[in-house]
Amino acid sequence: MKKIMLVFGTRPEAIKMCPLVDEIRKRPGLTPVVCVTGQHRQMLDQVLDIFHIVPDHDLSIMKQGQTLFDITTGILEKIRAVLEQEKPDIVLVHGDTSTTFVTALACFYLQIPVGHVEAGLRTYDIYSPFPEEFNREAVSIISAYNFAPTELSRQNLVREGKKPETIWVTGNTVIDAMKHTVSDSFQHPELDWVGKDKLIFITAHRRENQGEPMHRMFRAIRRVLEERDDCKAIYPIHMNPVVRKAAEEELAGCDKIHIIEPVDVVECHNFEARCHLCLTDSGGIQEECPSYGKPVLVMRDTTERPEGIDAGTLRLVGTDEQTIYLTFKELMEDENAYRAMSQACNPYGDGFACRRIADILETGTCDPWIPKK
Ligand code: UD1
Ligand code: UDP
Repeated sequence: MKKIMLVFGTRPEAIKMCPLVDEIRKRPGLTPVVCVTGQHRQMLDQVLDIFHIVPDHDLSIMKQGQTLFDITTGILEKIRAVLEQEKPDIVLVHGDTSTTFVTALACFYLQIPVGHVEAGLRTYDIYSPFPEEFNREAVSIISAYNFAPTELSRQNLVREGKKPETIWVTGNTVIDAMKHTVSDSFQHPELDWVGKDKLIFITAHRRENQGEPMHRMFRAIRRVLEERDDCKAIYPIHMNPVVRKAAEEELAGCDKIHIIEPVDVVECHNFEARCHLCLTDSGGIQEECPSYGKPVLVMRDTTERPEGIDAGTLRLVGTDEQTIYLTFKELMEDENAYRAMSQACNPYGDGFACRRIADILETGTCDPWIPKK
């Protein structure tokens, strides 16, 4: 019996790891142990509640306005005792947050093998996204098992010298999660407010966008919303006080946008599935919207998810106010431009990533995901 410890701390990691906890629980050869760092509190607990997961360990490290130093030292100090007590055979981490990097570092210090879920995403610019690109590159130096969501991410790892026999193309576990969230019968008071207008879905939180870039993003969005009478925006705002202040300064008093508290993942996926288009700097939403054929304007200078750009569903617009304004406006006015971006596709997975990862952990092998051409 192999003891598999899954460590995660933020909302997106939880959304992508909880389905894997469920799958590992079903396997006779595997015992899951869940440790959350609590890097996020409310936004993490919202996901744990939806998936009915009660962690075995909770490091509860979140502080308001935490710095990267706070998160790093907070986790490093507390996780050692948990790892020494549980003595897991393998520790699974996800993606590129500080929780991910620091947990992998702690495992390295204790010489515990690390499995990296969502391995191999790259921009090759350690300041964009910051600090995520560094985090994921550093985890790849440590990891013994690399679960790459796509062929492109596998190739990145091979190019960097990871041994091919340690890499498996599994698809992204978020596509597994989406099989259970979207439903035709979903209703919500915010959707009633939007009515027959086009729903514009907005999120923003990236550290490198905080400050002037985020102000420019919000100003551009407001200009388009106020010029048109055929759309309304829903913006579930991140709990970061820096983000909230910028949104208050730029968007207060605009009656075309509802800024609401973070929604749960079921609500979020159903909003995405019903929206006309999405403006975001999120990583996960770049993976989700293509499945529903919803165009995404990615308000960042780089993306580690070029598959959606190649498929035509994502467009990288950066954070220049006029570029965002013009692109958003064009997509609202030009049906051909809109249609060209709204073809449903699934470049990130087939919904069986968790099964593959559990197969590898249990038996050492799996049927890889081979996307349809
Ligand atoms: C973190 C990750 C980022 C990921 C994002 C997902 C790092 C460095 N960053 O960024 O990769 O894309 O999560 O959302 O790992 N807060 C709350 N309650 C919550 C969550 C956050 O109050 O449930 C507030 C706190 O004031 C906290 C702040 O938001 O200090 C920022 O949280 P933090 O985890 O430091 O950064 P994120 O921007 O959320
Ligand atoms: N999400 C959510 N509620 C919200 C906003 C986002 O459940 O109010 C989900 C979204 O569907 C996606 C994930 O959170 O699965 C993305 O998280 P975020 O943008 O915070 O982080 P990133 O993906 O950029 O790391």
